[in-house]
Amino acid sequence: MDKQLPYSEKVMDHFSHPRNVGEISDANGVGTVGNAICGDVMKMYLKIENNTIVDVKFKTFGCGAALATSSMVTEMVKGRSIEDALRVTNKAVAEALGGLPPVKLHCSVLAEEALRSALKDYYKRKGLPVPFDDKEHTHEGEKCL
Ligand code: FES
Repeated sequence: MDKQLPYSEKVMDHFSHPRNVGEISDANGVGTVGNAICGDVMKMYLKIENNTIVDVKFKTFGCGAALATSSMVTEMVKGRSIEDALRVTNKAVAEALGGLPPVKLHCSVLAEEALRSALKDYYKRKGLPVPFDDKEHTHEGEKCL
């Protein structure tokens, strides 16, 4: 973790003690996303029953902020409906963490993308149309520190 950056206590807490790390063997929605610039990769597993995210786990190979944002996003969606989960934006994740340094804001984008990618997979497995814009961010021109 880059100690020169002004990380909030919440970011440090989720970085040091990430919640919901791991895999779900019987997940029914799995999404993997990566940032082509820094090479960080985030994989999210969802177990959805009756429209509710009953379990969520993640694996992140990346920077401290990516780890903290993935941990936070799992806490924000666990036990919530799919509709609630779709309302979770990268901005909301960064705010819930007490903010992120501007150069690390894109890490929260990865967390939102991983969640949406896993939800997209859930709809695809069910043979249902994806009810949201699943266009992925390109990160083009973004600096990844
Ligand atoms: Fe790559 Fe944070 S996601 S530096």
